[in-house]
Amino acid sequence: MELKTFSDHQQLSDAAANEIIDVLKRKPSAVICMASGETPRLTCRLLVDKVRQQGTDISRMTFIGLDEWVGVPPENDGSCHYFFNHELFQPLALRPDQTRLFDGMSADLQHECTAMNEFIASKGGIDLMIVGLGMNGHIGFNEPGVSLDNEAHVMQLDPLTISVGQKYFNTPLDLQQGITLGLKFLRDADRVILMANGVKKATVVRQTVQGDVSNQFPASIMQTLSQGVVMVDEEAAGELDRRSTK
Ligand code: F6R
Repeated sequence: MELKTFSDHQQLSDAAANEIIDVLKRKPSAVICMASGETPRLTCRLLVDKVRQQGTDISRMTFIGLDEWVGVPPENDGSCHYFFNHELFQPLALRPDQTRLFDGMSADLQHECTAMNEFIASKGGIDLMIVGLGMNGHIGFNEPGVSLDNEAHVMQLDPLTISVGQKYFNTPLDLQQGITLGLKFLRDADRVILMANGVKKATVVRQTVQGDVSNQFPASIMQTLSQGVVMVDEEAAGELDRRSTK
């Protein structure tokens, strides 16, 4: 695992957007998977600008959403669907066959998971994953205690995810489950970037990078990934032991 520190969220987001552009230049048919949320929003906006400015060929790329809240409809502006539709799919005019998101409203969530696994396999796997970091160490909705070997799965949300998650919604929601790609996809992806910014992430960044590797803190799996990069801003790096070699 590599650790990269940037001066602020703008620089961090710029570097993440450049990573996506680089993959697309190298492999126009790349499969890119991203988390939604506050952390990658600026990355999405910068990516849209860069694609327009540089005329990047995005006609063959495939975009996969990392996760979705179960029971939250796509038109709810706190849903991952809404985020990707408004931040990426519409601005980039991606065709429906280029994008794949979990249907958190599906009556058959198990089928939804199987279909996602099959879709990713049919594309030959994921080239680049960009994930965020939850306040409990979750990645996607891989909550503390999750199996490290899961593919797509439905997970009961941790109380902290349920309370922190309210920040995305205008009115309080009864969030109970998330549907998510499992950590096996992180191991299998060609490159995995975990992004975190802001002082509120400093403790969980330290646990991610310098804590024990354990499924009780899923993001610690990053330490085991040779193709993993943790990209943080100075504020989020604030509690790292800079002398540590771990
Ligand atoms: C959202 C997701 C979550 C977030 C994490 C951090 O699609 O996968 O795991 O990445 O909760 O959220 P923010 O970026 O809002 O702090």
